[in-house]
Amino acid sequence: MTKETAATGILYGIGVGPGDSNLLTLEAVEILGRVKWIFAASSNRNGKSLALEIASSYFNERANVQPLYFPMTRDKERLEEAWQANCQKVQNVLTMPDDAAFVTLGDPSTYSTFTYLLRKLNCNNEFGWKIVPGITSYQASAAVLGLPLAEAEESLTIVSGAKGIDELEMALTYSDNIIIMKAYRHYREIVRLLKEKGLADRTVAVRRCGLPGQEISFDIEEWDGEERSYFTLLIVKKRPDHKQISYQGPAFERIK
Ligand SMILES: C[S@@+](CC[C@H](N)C(=O)[O-])C[C@H]1O[C@@H](n2cnc3c(N)ncnc32)[C@H](O)[C@@H]1O
Repeated sequence: MTKETAATGILYGIGVGPGDSNLLTLEAVEILGRVKWIFAASSNRNGKSLALEIASSYFNERANVQPLYFPMTRDKERLEEAWQANCQKVQNVLTMPDDAAFVTLGDPSTYSTFTYLLRKLNCNNEFGWKIVPGITSYQASAAVLGLPLAEAEESLTIVSGAKGIDELEMALTYSDNIIIMKAYRHYREIVRLLKEKGLADRTVAVRRCGLPGQEISFDIEEWDGEERSYFTLLIVKKRPDHKQISYQGPAFERIK
């Protein structure tokens, strides 16, 4: 899915993986080593961005690094203003024309600001773009755990917990394996539902995968009531034949 035009620079959406900076693709590293402009979303006025931190060692030393501030607000007017300003910054670079990379946590096609940005920019302008996929947080978590996400004819569903448990409740009726991303805000509600369905002990919680302070919990209630990290996901394996879900062995400790 590449669309490249000669008249403008190319915008690369680069997945940098969930934490460990060894998990970028060779293509991502090559692009970051040559583009002059690097953007990333930041919800913080000081421009802090985990995606920038993860990938910074690969940036061209002369690159202009530009965090794009997106306030954490439901105020539509303020958000629209931020979008306009940020789109303009990216558009200015592309029409120079210069190539630019937008780095994003995990994969750019999975709950990332990048796909919104691409849509917004494409409405106004014809320009070249390319998505460089990244390793998602749930793939990296499954790898750390040695847990299969899906086997044989099983289904795998990804849901967001950001707005509560409705999507999860539905997914639990039909899917064999469920990944709950953005699990932090409604963590307690999610745990309650999983307990009701008899699935709490078929669930593993992963926090800050590949980052300092990485934590795994097979006792999902353990985190209930604590300060929860935004970087939390849950993996539910409904089928009882999955012995791996109870695995807490020393191999994981060694990997950590
Ligand atoms: C906006 S989504 C971004 C997903 C990302 N694009 C991906 O491909 O993994 C943010 C959610 O991803 C999950 N997440 C991202 N990084 C994580 C990490 N290092 N450890 C655990 N969960 C993570 C959390 O559920 C978090 O609330």
